[in-house]
Amino acid sequence: VEKIKIGLLGLGNVGSGVWNILNQNEDEIVNFLGKKLEVKKILVRNPEKVREINIPENILTTDIRQIIEDPEIDIVVEVMGGIHPAVECLKASLQNKKHVVTANKAAIATYGQELHQLALEQGVQLRYEASVCGGIPIINTLKNGLAANKIEEIVGIVNGTTNFILTQMSNQGMEFEEALKLAQDKGYAEADPSSDIYGEDAAFKLSILTSIAFNKNILPTEIPREGVTKISKKDIEYAFQLGYKIKLLATVARHKDFLECHVQPTLIPKTHPLAAVNDEFNALFVKGNAVGELMLYGKGAGSLATGSAVMGDILSIGKNIEIKAQTVTTKKKEDITLIGEGSGQYYVRFQVKDHPGVLGKIATLLGEYNVSLESVVQTGRNEERVPLIFITHEIERSLLNKALEEIVKYDEVIEIASIMKIKNL
Ligand SMILES: NC(=O)c1ccc[n+]([C@@H]2O[C@H](COP(=O)([O-])OP(=O)(O)OC[C@H]3O[C@@H](n4cnc5c(N)ncnc54)[C@H](OP(=O)(O)O)[C@@H]3O)[C@@H](O)[C@H]2O)c1
Repeated sequence: VEKIKIGLLGLGNVGSGVWNILNQNEDEIVNFLGKKLEVKKILVRNPEKVREINIPENILTTDIRQIIEDPEIDIVVEVMGGIHPAVECLKASLQNKKHVVTANKAAIATYGQELHQLALEQGVQLRYEASVCGGIPIINTLKNGLAANKIEEIVGIVNGTTNFILTQMSNQGMEFEEALKLAQDKGYAEADPSSDIYGEDAAFKLSILTSIAFNKNILPTEIPREGVTKISKKDIEYAFQLGYKIKLLATVARHKDFLECHVQPTLIPKTHPLAAVNDEFNALFVKGNAVGELMLYGKGAGSLATGSAVMGDILSIGKNIEIKAQTVTTKKKEDITLIGEGSGQYYVRFQVKDHPGVLGKIATLLGEYNVSLESVVQTGRNEERVPLIFITHEIERSLLNKALEEIVKYDEVIEIASIMKIKNL
C-alpha cells in the first residue's frame, strides 16, 4: 500500500494522542484512505525524556530541517504549542510546500491570515480543527455541513477549565480559589491558569470561529473579554434562585449593522441545553438561517479527543493530497463594525451597608439613567454588609455604566461586586 509520510512537531499530550490513534486505528485509516500513514520524524525539545509510548529509535529530532527539508514528508503536524517558535515552524513548513495541520489556537488566532495567505501562495492546505474545542468538529461543521447557511449566532462554552471550575462552584458550593485548586490537581488547569481564567483562551477560539463563520478577522486582543475570577459562590446561588446558571460564554452574533463579539460570564436559563454542559465539557450552540438551532457537545481537550480532530484533518488532506487545494475562503468580506455589547438584561450585585432607604436611593438613580428594573433581591438583613441584587430590563450597557459610576460614590455602597449579562437564549 502507498504511504503518506508525516512529520510531527511535538510529542506531548496531543502528539502522543495522534501517535496512538495512528497505531490503534490503522485498519480504519487504510480503509478510509486506501493508503497508509507513517510518522517519519518527530521534533521534540528533549529527546532524552522518558516517554510513555513506544517509538522507533532515531525517530526523534531537535532539528526542524530534518522534517521540512525531507522531500518524502507530505504533511507537517504542529502540536508543540505556544506562539514562538511554532509560527516560524508553520511558516517554514508551508514555504517548503508541506501541507500543515495544527492544533495551535494561539498561533492561528494571531497569525491565521498570514498563514492562510502563505498556504494559498504555495498551493498547500492548512487545517486546524483541533484548535477550537479539541475533539468537537466545529470547524468542519461550519465550513462544510453548514456552508449553505448564513450563520446568525454562535454561543459556546469553549473553555473546559473554567467550565469545570464553575460546575464545582455550582454543584459543590466551592469558592473560586478552591475550585481552581481542584482543577489544577486534576490536571485540567495549568500551573499558570491565567490564559483560561481571564478568558484569553476563549478569545483565541472565538477569534477563529468568527473568521470562519463571519469571514471577519478579529485579533484575540480586540475581543472584549472578562474571565471568571470575580464570580463568587453567592452569585451562583442568587442566579440559581432566579432561574439561571452562570457560564463563561464566547459569543459572536450578527446584528443588523454590527457584529457582537465577546467572552464573558453570563446568566443563562437553567433549562437551556448549554446550562447542562458540566465539568470539563465544551459545547457550541449555533444558529443558522437555514438549519435553525443546533448544538455540538463533547470533549474540548485531552490527548485522544484532540488527537481525533488532528487525525481528521490529516485524513482530509490525505484524501485530497494530489489536489493541493487551497483553504482560503473566497466569500466576500462583510463590512461590519464590531462591538462588545450594546444592550441587554443585566444582573448587578452590590454590597451595601444595611441602612434604611439604600435600595430606594439606588433604584431612583438607575431610573434617572433609564435603567429600568425587572426585580430586586435583598437578603441577610441586619448584617454589616448585605447583598443587593438588581435584575434590569433590556437596557443600554453604557447607561448602566454611567449610573454605576454615580452609585459607587454613595457612602452606603461598599462595592459593586458583580455585573453580568443575562442571556435569554
Ligand atoms: N492538551 C490538549 O488537550 C489540547 C487541546 C486542544 C489544543 N491543544 C493544543 O495543542 C498544542 C499542543 O498541546 P500539548 O498539550 O500536547 O502540549 P505539551 O504536552 O506541552 O507538548 C508539547 C510538545 O512539543 C514539544 N516542544 C515544545 N516546544 C518545542 C520547541 N521549541 N522545540 C521542539 N519541540 C518543542 C515538547 O517537547 P518535549 O516532549 O521534549 O518537551 C512536547 O513534546 C498546543 O497548541 C495546544 O494549545 C491542546
